[in-house]
Amino acid sequence: MRVHTAYEGALGDHFAHRATDSPYNAYTDRPAVLALAGDVTGLRVLDAGCGAGHYITELRARGAAEVVGVDGSATLLGHARERIAGDPAVRLHRHDLEEPLTFLADSSFDVVVMALVHHHVEARRQLLAEMHRVLRPGGVLVLSTTHPIADWTWHGGSYFDEERVEATVGDGLTINYRRMTLQTFLNELLDAGFALERVAEPRAAEEARRVDERRYLKTQRTPFFLAVRMRKDPGTLATR
Ligand SMILES: C[S@@+](CC[C@H](N)C(=O)[O-])C[C@H]1O[C@@H](n2cnc3c(N)ncnc32)[C@H](O)[C@@H]1O
Repeated sequence: MRVHTAYEGALGDHFAHRATDSPYNAYTDRPAVLALAGDVTGLRVLDAGCGAGHYITELRARGAAEVVGVDGSATLLGHARERIAGDPAVRLHRHDLEEPLTFLADSSFDVVVMALVHHHVEARRQLLAEMHRVLRPGGVLVLSTTHPIADWTWHGGSYFDEERVEATVGDGLTINYRRMTLQTFLNELLDAGFALERVAEPRAAEEARRVDERRYLKTQRTPFFLAVRMRKDPGTLATR
């Protein structure tokens, strides 16, 4: 198996820390994605690109019956393992999301959460086809990404540039991902067979003001993330 290594070592530790209380991850992306996921009580959830497991523990606290976390980074999976503290309803897999998830059965999840991951992946169409395959009919995919306007503001050039970019995340560390237009982002999801149900351009929740007022205020002016709730086979409205 090819192994994804981008978030190993210092970058993995940095992200695990940042996801705990940063205005952007903890108070902007996560509340929006969890709100779009809705009531997960009793549901089987896949967290694709689970990082340090912050979503996993939130989903379990909200009543998810079982959560499967998949990530390519051994460092982040180590943090996730600590965070889930032996919860028997959670399974973790190390896997490169550039490759099909052959270890997951067809139609075996009610909900897939994929937060701030899919812009890292080049084989996005294959990844979305895989998310579609593992969801049951009527199942829901909640996906967040960097906002195309934010990427245009940070990286410049033309809004329509769709190149790989590097972003500094602090402590001299950088991440690498593909910026894309809104039409590319949405059309790839629609082409994969999902129907769009809801869109969010989240701003930080009020609690972020206490953590970092400057960044909190920044999120009230500038979009950082874009999140969508998509449905597989909308004719089959068997889920909440
Ligand atoms: C910004 S973090 C988001 C983590 C988590 N979803 C969250 O929001 O807390 C991006 C995650 O994507 C994972 N990732 C990026 N590319 C990947 C790939 N090709 N295969 C598996 N995981 C990947 C990284 O290891 C990292 O955990």
